[in-house]
Parts: sequence; C-alpha cells; structure tokens
Amino acid sequence: MARLNDHYLKLRAGYLFPEIARRVRAYTEAAPDQAARVIRCGIGDVTEPLPAAAREAMHAAVDELGERGSFRGYGPEQGYDFLREAIATHAYQSRGVEVAADEIFVSDGSKCDTGNILDIFANGANRTAITDPVYPVYVDTNVMAGNTGPADASGAYEGLLYLPCTAANDFVPAIPDEPVDLVYLCYPNNPTGATATREQLQAWVDYARANDTILLFDAAYEAFIRDPEIPRSIFEIPGARDCAIEFRSFSKNGGFTGVRCAYTVVPGELTALTSAGERKPLHPLWSRRQSTKFNGASYVVQRGAAGLFTDQGQAEVAALIDHYMANAALLREACQQIGLPVYGGVNAPYVWVGCPEGVDSWGMFDRLLQQAQVVVTPGAGFGAAGEGYFRISAFNSRENVEEACRRLRQALG
Ligand code: MLT
Repeated sequence: MARLNDHYLKLRAGYLFPEIARRVRAYTEAAPDQAARVIRCGIGDVTEPLPAAAREAMHAAVDELGERGSFRGYGPEQGYDFLREAIATHAYQSRGVEVAADEIFVSDGSKCDTGNILDIFANGANRTAITDPVYPVYVDTNVMAGNTGPADASGAYEGLLYLPCTAANDFVPAIPDEPVDLVYLCYPNNPTGATATREQLQAWVDYARANDTILLFDAAYEAFIRDPEIPRSIFEIPGARDCAIEFRSFSKNGGFTGVRCAYTVVPGELTALTSAGERKPLHPLWSRRQSTKFNGASYVVQRGAAGLFTDQGQAEVAALIDHYMANAALLREACQQIGLPVYGGVNAPYVWVGCPEGVDSWGMFDRLLQQAQVVVTPGAGFGAAGEGYFRISAFNSRENVEEACRRLRQALG
C-alpha cells in the first residue's frame, strides 16, 4: 500500500488565503445582498492592468511563436539569456550591485522558489529560523519537508526557531544568540510592511558568515522602497554573496500575479557542507534541481518580463508603484485617524494595524467583514506574534481604497 507524507498531517488548517476566501464565501452566501459590497484588501493581489510594455512584448512573442522560422519549443530551464541579462543589468549592476546573469534563475514565482529551495538542503539536518509573524509559505514548506515536529497549541512548530518581530524591535528580529543554519528574512516585510536598515542587514550578514548560516532573503517587495537609504537587495551588503540567496518577483511591481514570473539569485561563491563535511557550491545544485523538476517559465511571459526593463516599462512600473503607495498612504491615514497603532505602508504595500483594545485579529477580521464588508488579513494567520494586528493590502483600485477608508472610519471610528 502506498504511504503518504505524514508531515502534511502536521499542517494546521488550510493555507491562510484560501481560508480567508472560504470565510468570505460563507459570509456572502449567508448575506447575498452584501456580496457586491465586499472590498478585498486581504491577499496582496494586484488590480491594475498590465503595463503596455509587457503586453506589447508578449503580443510580439506570441506572433513569433506563430511563425515556423521563429517558433520555439522548450527553453532553457534557468531562463532565457535575454531576461537574465536584463535583470542583471537593470535590477543589480546599474545600482552598483554585483550579480551576474548566470547567477539568476528565472521561474514562475517566488512562492514556488522559496518552497522549492529546500530541495537543495538536507531534510531534517538544518536548524532553521523564521520571523514571527511570517509569510506562511516558509513555515509550511518546512513542515512538508519534514524539518519540524508537530505544532503546539499556539501554532508554533517544534524544531523551528521563531524570531519575534514586534513594535518594540521595529519588526526586525534580534540576531539569535545561538547558531542556526538557515534563516528566512523578508524585507520589505510581508506582513508588517517594515523595512530593514543597512546596519541591520549588515548585522545579519556578519552573523551568517560567522556561523556558516545561509540567509534566504525574500525581496519580492523591493520595488516599493521609496527611501534611498534602505537596501533593496541583500547583495548590497558586503559579504552577502558568501551567505545569501535572494528571491525576487515581477508579481507585485509588474502586475504579474496572474502572468507568473520571478527569479532567484544564487551567487557562485555560496557554499554549504555535505554530510561528509565537504564544502560544495550551491549554484550547480539549484541549476540541477531546476533542470530536473522545471521546464522554465514560458517564452511569452519572459518576453513580457523583459519588456518591464525597457524605458517605457520602467516608467509604467513606477506609475503602478506610485498608485499602490498612494493607496497605502490613504489606508495609513484612515487607521491613524481612527486612533489605531499603524505600521508599514511607507516603503511597502502592506499596512499593519493594531486591533482595538479587547479585539483579537480573527475577531477584527469578522467585524470588518460583517460591519464594513472590507476583507483584511488577520495578523494571527502569520504567526503567534501577529495576534492583535491585522494587515491591509494596498493592492486595489483608488475607488475601492477610498471607499474602504470611509467604511473603516465608520465601523471603527
Ligand atoms: C500575500 O498577500 O501575502 C501575498 O499575496 C501572498 C503571495 O505573494 O503569495
């Protein structure tokens, strides 16, 4: 008889966002007259149309595929050179950051990459640290891989080291006082909208190099950084090439949540130990993993992503970011006027808000859904330290955000 992966049975309830969708569906089925009023500020899904530069590039690519002479079948599993080079030049080298095109692995999403990266690390052999609150994918994929024990009553999994991120530490965790092998960091942060300073990231890189730790750095929201002093890439930090992998995405800056394209940077210098204690580079392992388990993002999509790096594409991306960040400012202002503690939303598209006294984060979710028909994400869904907070996503139309602000003031003011 086939045996299943027991580790999946340790996972708690459903994945956060489908669970929210399920609760919203249950509400609208019970109150169908309210269904059209629902404003979704829960999952960070983009709403604005795709930039013309991406659309035009994709149209041209489709036409190429329609001609015998320019038709293409399987592409390189690591991504087409035209896109890897565009990323290396525009996302890194033009900003003075050393990343070569062949260190960039194009994929169909950072969610997949942050989960799949565990394939190249020894299951059960690494001590792993995650922040709390955290993007749930990092935790759940470690559970699936058998890197944890069961969850306790608070939802914390045995075997993971949780690094609390609170208002007191500006949502950037203290460096652990014990060695760990893998650390997930996400800045600008999902869910708190916090950013990490150069000094804070340098401290993490120094810790990683001193302890032979690998930093798994999720920079999916780097394009939302407005403050020029805040690093957009871990590779802006001296020494990071020895100790970090970076994940980036076109989902939120280029509006590609449905189109799907992202990339992961594995520097040539990055190494880890074999079970025999030999030091080996990770780059060939990730390349091998992708060649075996992935056939590359589609040609059309990669052309679309490359279109975002043209002058026109960059101007359109900047306009999208301006749009979502103006939404974030409105949401921040509304919550501040209500008198709630407000964080994030300045260099990140998420606003992290403290619940009113005596209301927990799922209670807040229910109250806003029922009284204001506004969907937010309960902080507890991101970990125990998220309790007492809720997250509002700035990814929406201006009209919806203005209406959501009006209703938030009405329901909570
Ligand atoms: C979120 O809302 O946290 C994100 O949209 C999730 C994701 O990017 O997968």
